[in-house]
Amino acid sequence: MKRIGVLTSGGDAPGMNACLRALVLTAHANELEVVGFQYGFNGVIEQQYHHLLPYHVNGIIQNGGTILKSARCEAMHSATGLQRAAQNLHDLQIDALLVIGGDGSFRGCVELSAFYNGRLLGIPGTIDNDVDGSDFTIGFATALDTALDAIDKIRDTADAFERIFLVEVMGRHTGYLAVAAGIAAGAEQIICPELASELDLDRIALHVEQARKHRGNCSYIIVLAETMYPGGVSALAADLEQRGIECRAAILGHIQRGGRPVGADRILATKLGAYAVEQLLQGAHLMMAGEMNGQAGLYPLARTGEKKKQVDSYLLRWQQQVAQY
Ligand code: F6P
Repeated sequence: MKRIGVLTSGGDAPGMNACLRALVLTAHANELEVVGFQYGFNGVIEQQYHHLLPYHVNGIIQNGGTILKSARCEAMHSATGLQRAAQNLHDLQIDALLVIGGDGSFRGCVELSAFYNGRLLGIPGTIDNDVDGSDFTIGFATALDTALDAIDKIRDTADAFERIFLVEVMGRHTGYLAVAAGIAAGAEQIICPELASELDLDRIALHVEQARKHRGNCSYIIVLAETMYPGGVSALAADLEQRGIECRAAILGHIQRGGRPVGADRILATKLGAYAVEQLLQGAHLMMAGEMNGQAGLYPLARTGEKKKQVDSYLLRWQQQVAQY
C-alpha cells in the first residue's frame, strides 16, 4: 500500500481536524502518501483533491470544522456517480479510502465497494452520536457542551422571568444529544424519539402544571429533539399557548456543530485517526474504526446504522418520573 485517500462527509463535527492530523501523521510515519478529497465524496467524483503533508495539519487540532470541507453528495446515490468515484480512485492509484462521517457516509462506502477494489474504512464523525460500533462519535462531546452552555444561558433568563422555554436540539432522527443535554442541563422535560409514548400536548401541559404545583412559579425547560413536532418547536410553542401554557421557543441549530473541540473529542479523534491507518496497513476493509469501553476496535461498516444506539434509558426514565418534583 502506497497511497491512501481521505475525506470528511456529511455534517461536520468538531474534532474532524484532529482526526485528519492523527491520520496524516500516522500515514507519514508509515511512508504512505495521503490525498485529501474536498467536499466529501464530491471531491472524489469531481477530482478536487490535494496531497496532505504533515505541515498541512500543523496547528489544526484545536479548530472546529474541517480543512477538507464537507458536503452531502447526491451523486453517490446513483450507479453513474459510484462508477465515476471508483474510476477516479483507480486513476489516482488510491489503494484505500478513509471516510470520516456518519452512517449515511458509511452506506456510501458500502455501495462504492461494488465498483472500487481498494480498501474502504470509516471513522465515526458526527455530533449526533447515532453510529453503532463506537460508544461515542467524534464531535458529540463538544456539541453536548455547546448545547449545555446555551441551555444554561436560557435558564438564566427563564429564571428571571419565571418562564417556560422549549429548546430544540439537533440529532437528526435520534435523541442522543437531546437526552444528554437535557439531563445535564436539569431540564424539566425531555422529548425525544426514544420515548415509548407518543408526543401528547395534554401530557406536556399537565407536566408543566404539576411542576408549578410542586415548586410554585419557576423556570421550566423542555428540551426537544429536532423532528419531534411537525412545524418544529415554534409550532409546538403556539399549540401549547392555545392550552394556556405561555412559552418561548429557542432553536440551537448549527451552533451545535461549531467551536473548538473539547479535550474528549480531540483525544477520541486522535486515537481513531491513528488506529484507522494502522488497521488499514493490517488489511482492514469495509470496517469502521470505533471505540468501545475505552478500546479501539473495528466494526462492520454495513452494520453501523443497524441497531440505533440506545440513549441512557435509566436516566431518561428517572427524568420522566421525577424531574417535575
Ligand atoms: O448530522 C448532523 C446534523 O447536524 C444533524 O444533527 C442535523 O439534522 C443535520 O446534520 C443538519 O443538516 P444540514 O446542515 O445539512 O441542514
